[in-house]
Amino acid sequence: MNQIQVDLGERTYPVLIGTECLEEALNSLLPDRVQKVALVTQSNIGIIPSINVEHEIFHIDNGERAKTLKTVEDLCSRWAQWGLTRTDVVVAIGGGLVTDVAGFAAAVYHRGVDVIHAPTTLLGMVDAAIGGKTAVNLSEGKNLVGSFWQPVGVVCDISTLSSLPEREWRCGYGEVAKYHFLGAQDLDQQDLAGKIMKCIQLKAEIVREDERETGRRAILNYGHTLAHALEMEKDFSLAHGEAVAIGIRYAAEIAKILGRIDQKRVDEHETVLEYYGLSYKLPSSYDWAQLVSLFQRDKKAVDGISFVLDGPEGIEVVKIEDQEILIQAMEALQ
Ligand code: GLY
Repeated sequence: MNQIQVDLGERTYPVLIGTECLEEALNSLLPDRVQKVALVTQSNIGIIPSINVEHEIFHIDNGERAKTLKTVEDLCSRWAQWGLTRTDVVVAIGGGLVTDVAGFAAAVYHRGVDVIHAPTTLLGMVDAAIGGKTAVNLSEGKNLVGSFWQPVGVVCDISTLSSLPEREWRCGYGEVAKYHFLGAQDLDQQDLAGKIMKCIQLKAEIVREDERETGRRAILNYGHTLAHALEMEKDFSLAHGEAVAIGIRYAAEIAKILGRIDQKRVDEHETVLEYYGLSYKLPSSYDWAQLVSLFQRDKKAVDGISFVLDGPEGIEVVKIEDQEILIQAMEALQ
C-alpha cells in the first residue's frame, strides 16, 4: 500500500492507495475509542467491507437529485436513532456524491464526527474525497451549502474500479485532464495507479498550501465554472466530468481571446482531452445567456464573474470585465 500525507497540522491525514486493500486499510484507520461505524453508501455500489467493530449500513439514493439537505437530515436522524455518538466514525463508500453528502452530514452531526472516505470512482479518488470539501446542492446552484471537514483518512482501493461503468471513467478522466494543466508532470506516461497517485500528490500539495480556498486552491476549479452551469441548466443530463472537459476547452478559448495563451496551447488542451477520450464540443442546445447568468452564482463570483484561466503565469483566477467574451467563446466552440 502507498501512502500520501495531506499535511494540515493537527488535521493531517493519510491517503492510502493500493489494490485489494479496502478492509485492511479501513480497519487500520479506525481509532481505538470507536464503538460504532456508520457505513454510508448506495445500494448499487455493492462494496461492504468487513469492519472490526459494530457497524450498520446507511443507504442514500443515487443521482445528483439526492444531493440535498433533506438527505443529510435523513442520514442524521437515522444515525441518532441508531445511537451514533461523537466518538464514533462515519465511513463513506462510493463516488463523489456519497463522500460529499456523508462528509457534510458528518461535519454537522453532533457538531462534527470523524469521517473516513473510501472513494470507489476515479473522480472520487483523484478529487472529491481529498481535501475536505463537503456540500449539497440547492435548486439555485451546485454545492451551495457545505463545509470544510477534513476526513481522518482516505482509502483508494484501485480494485474497486474494476466494475466502473464507461461513463464514470470519462467523469474521472475529466478531472485527471485538469491536473495536466495544473502542473502534474508526465501524467500521460503513468499507468492508472501512477496517474491516481500523481493527481492526489498534487491535490494534497495545493490543499496544504490553501486549505480553505482563500487563494491558490481555486485553481482546482479549472473548467468548473461552465461545467457547473451546464450541469444545472439541463438537470444533470451531462455528468460532472463530461461537463468539466467542455469547461476546460471553453476556459482555453476565453484565455486565447484575452491573449493569455496562443493557439498552440489551445491545441494542447484538445490533445489532452482527446487522449482521455473526452468530448469538448459545446452542445448547441444550451441557452447561452442563461449559462452566463448561472456563472454569477458560482462561488468564485464574489465581485462579478471570475474564471480560472491558463496564462503566462500558469493557471489563475481572472476577473472577466467584458461578458461579451463569454458568449464569443461559446460561439467559437460550436
Ligand atoms: N474539487 C475542488 C477542490 O477540492 O478544491
